[in-house]
Order: sequence, then C-alpha cells, then structure tokens
Amino acid sequence: MRDTTIQPTAGAGTRGVRRAVPEPCAMVVFGGTGDLARRKLVPALYNLACDGSLPEGFAVVGVGRREQTTDAFRATHLESTARFSRSQPLRAETWRRFAERLDYVAGDFHDPRTFTKLRDWLARADEAHGTGGNRLFYFATAASEFPALLKGLSEARLLYAPGADATAPWSRVVVEKPFGRDLASARALDQLVAANLAERQVFRIDHYLGKETVQNILVFRFGNAVFEPLWNRKYVDHVQITAAEELGVEGRGRFYDETGVLRDIVQNHLLQLLALFAMEPPVTFAADDIRDRKVDVLRALRPLSAESVARDVVVAQYRGFRDEPDVARDSRTPTYAAVRLFVDTWRWEGVPFYVRMGKRLPKKGTEISIHYRHAPNVLYNSAVGAEAVPGNVLVIRIQPNEGISLGIRSKRPGPAATLQPVKMDFAYQTSFGKGSPEAYERLLLDAMAGDATLFARKDEVETAWSYVDLIEDAWHKSPNPPKMSEYPAGSWGPKEADELLERDGHEWRHARR
Ligand code: BG6
Repeated sequence: MRDTTIQPTAGAGTRGVRRAVPEPCAMVVFGGTGDLARRKLVPALYNLACDGSLPEGFAVVGVGRREQTTDAFRATHLESTARFSRSQPLRAETWRRFAERLDYVAGDFHDPRTFTKLRDWLARADEAHGTGGNRLFYFATAASEFPALLKGLSEARLLYAPGADATAPWSRVVVEKPFGRDLASARALDQLVAANLAERQVFRIDHYLGKETVQNILVFRFGNAVFEPLWNRKYVDHVQITAAEELGVEGRGRFYDETGVLRDIVQNHLLQLLALFAMEPPVTFAADDIRDRKVDVLRALRPLSAESVARDVVVAQYRGFRDEPDVARDSRTPTYAAVRLFVDTWRWEGVPFYVRMGKRLPKKGTEISIHYRHAPNVLYNSAVGAEAVPGNVLVIRIQPNEGISLGIRSKRPGPAATLQPVKMDFAYQTSFGKGSPEAYERLLLDAMAGDATLFARKDEVETAWSYVDLIEDAWHKSPNPPKMSEYPAGSWGPKEADELLERDGHEWRHARR
C-alpha cells in the first residue's frame, strides 16, 4: 500500500481513521454483462460516482462474449442500476456523466485478439480519461475461466511486475469467490496466480468483509472495554451464526448446482464471519496482522471425520430445487447446511458454534448470537417467569436492520418479583441516521487504493477449503453417503437441523428482521 492519508470523519466524539486513497485507474470487468456486474458492480460504481468517491481519472470497460454496441451495454446497465442501486431514484445527470466512462469490448476469453483489443482500449482510456496506466482487472466470471484470463492478460503484457518505484503504474487483479472448487483446485489456481502476479497484486474478494457490520465486529470487540473480557469459554455457553436468504437460485441454476451452499457461503462468508468473531486481538490493524489472527481460527477448527460429519453436519435441499431451470433433476447439491463445530483454542475450547445458512428460508437475515451462561438461579428460581426467561443473548445483526442488541432480564414493575426479558438495542439507522454503503463500494475503493485488509489471503482461502473439503468428501466420496434432507421452501430448514441443537439442550434463535 502506498500513499496513506488521514481522511477526516465528521462529528464530535468520532475519530478519523487512516485510509488509503483510491488512485486513478481503468477497471476491466470480465463478465461485464453477467449477474454480478449488473446487480452489484456497476450499481456500486454508480453510487461511488454519486458520492464523488471515484478517482478523478477513471473508466470502466466490460468484457464479454456477446457482440453488442457500447450503447446497448450502457442501456442494459442503466436498466439494472435503476433497479439495484441502493440510492434511489437514479440521478439522470450523474448517470450520464458516469456512462461516458463506461464502455464494452466483445471477445472470447480464450482468443488472444480479445486482449489485443483490450490493450488498445486501455491506451485510449489513459488518453481520454487520465487513468494513468493503472489497471484493475476484475474476474467476475466462473472460476473455470480464471486460467484463460490470466494467460490472456499475461501474454498481452497487461500484468506488470510491481516495481520498487511506488509511483510506477500498477496492475491488480480482483478475483471473485469461490476461489477454486476445493483445496486442490485453489492451490492450482494459486500457483497460476503466483506465476503471473505478486501476492500484493491479488485481491480475493469476499464481499461480506466489506459490510459495515462485519467490520464493526472488531471495533465492538476491541474498542470497548466491557465485551472482550466476556468473549470466551468462561462466560459463553454457545454461539449461533445464521445466514438466511429468502431468495432461491434466481436464474443462476447452473452456477448454483455446480457450487452449492458449502462452496457458495460456508467456505467464504460464513468462515470469515466466524474468524472475525473468534480471533485473538491482532498486534495492529495492518492487513497481515489481522489476516494472521483470522487464519489461526481457521487452523483451529476441529477436524471433521466421516463420523462427525454424519453427526454434526446437516445438508438439505429445498423442495422444488431440482425443478429449477438448469438444475440437474437428480442433483445432490445442498441449498442449506447446518454445522455444529468447535474452535479448539484456549479461548473457545468446548464452546459449540452452530452455524446454518440456506436459500428459500422464511426471511433474509444474517446474524451472530452469543448465548451467555446462565446466572446462578439461586436467588430468582422462585421468581415468576424465571424458568421461561432466557439468559443474556448478545445479537450482532449483520443485515438487515443492522445493529447490536443485548437481551437482559429485568424485574417487571409491580409488587411481584416477576422477571421479564428486555433489550438494549443499537440500530445503525437510529444512531447514524443513514443506511450503510454497499459492501462492494468499499471494496472497490480499497482495491483501487491497494489496501488488501478486507480481502482474503491465500492461506486463509486454502485453510477454509481444507475444512469444507472434509464435509464435501464425506458427502460425495463416501461409499455410504449420509442422506440428503429436504425442507419446504419458506421454512426454517429440515428438522435434522433442529435436532442438532436439541441434542445439546439448545434451540435456534430465529433470524429476525
Ligand atoms: C453471494 C452468493 O456471494 O452472496 C449468493 O453467491 C448470495 O448466492 C449472496 O445470495 C448473499 O449476499 P448478501 O450480501 O445479500 O447477503
């Protein structure tokens, strides 16, 4: 990372944070007409344009197989940005100015001529838009295309080796998740990446890390004196992490059938949340210090055997998944998973973590809940309601209705000693008066600034794969694979997932809006 400045943050009692400044660059989106570009990337860039956060010298080009004019490409993105942008309604003048910097190059990723065309376009962008020779290549395609993209870019000499001179033009690559399909393919991809790029040019994106609420986990833990002392096996009974989605596979049947919930969510988003939640304090907030501590958590995950997978892992499909377009009629791809896992560190030994995620659940909601041990009931065991009133639960609402709440027991006013659960609640909307930016906005700016703090490092990705592979292997390679459960679309998942907790005397806290 070069050139860091203090960007002031406004308001009494707030502290400025050190952030790198995004530099002029041309961004190239491979898969420029795909779902991700339409739903997330271009709307994020447009919102950055609205906020005036894009570098002065900036242009973006989509690369895809489809032959189409630049006007048609812009029209497609106008329509999808109007639909998916977080800020509404679309500002016509801002879009017009943004669209002048939005272009399209058609070509096959396996054809060297595509990269020659791209090189010419980049040279023109430097002239027309002052992008200064800096290139941000975004791989928003299926992982199977990554090798062809690296080869094409490298042969066209579009990947420069980073020099000692910090002012020399740079090229960086942002790679979408899942990075590979398993440990072996992730390693092969890493080798290919290493043959063409230095690690500091590679940005493995996991958009959960760009969410404000996810970044706030570290501030909440290490910036407050009262919570961290209770963040361990002495006080915590168990932890639940839920990532529920109401949507199904939404026209991504082929991708999803190849990927499934373990590769789509568990290997990346879920394990990243777990790592931030369970990690030890880093020495500093430098990218590698944080990533070192996160990888410690992943390395400490208790290994799963075929036996423990059968006992502690539930995978399931929603009813109707196999009738979705582009999904195999005999598909064994899970759309839901629940895992009972342990982080075998000094801090967490013996504390069960129950994590679950799935599509077509009753509502969207991602949260972490920390269930504290009960206070000794000797004083209140005769109080009315003592049995039914839950102990303290701290809930970090990642999305929606972002915030943090602590459930406490209180005496209900009146002559009787009646206990009642009440809540202390922090809501982003109330405290900060505005919604948070989309994760992709923050991450794109960080990549333009060369700040890798919120991106996954090679060893994090590989360690996460070695855990997920254990589950995948038990399901796909075992001669007696455990049965695939089923759940009705719109329900909270299969009954086996409830049983996973019931065995330990617990129950899921339903994710709430
Ligand atoms: C993506 C997955 O990474 O995350 C999708 O590929 C999923 O399947 C999405 O829907 C969820 O993201 P968010 O930010 O809506 O929770």
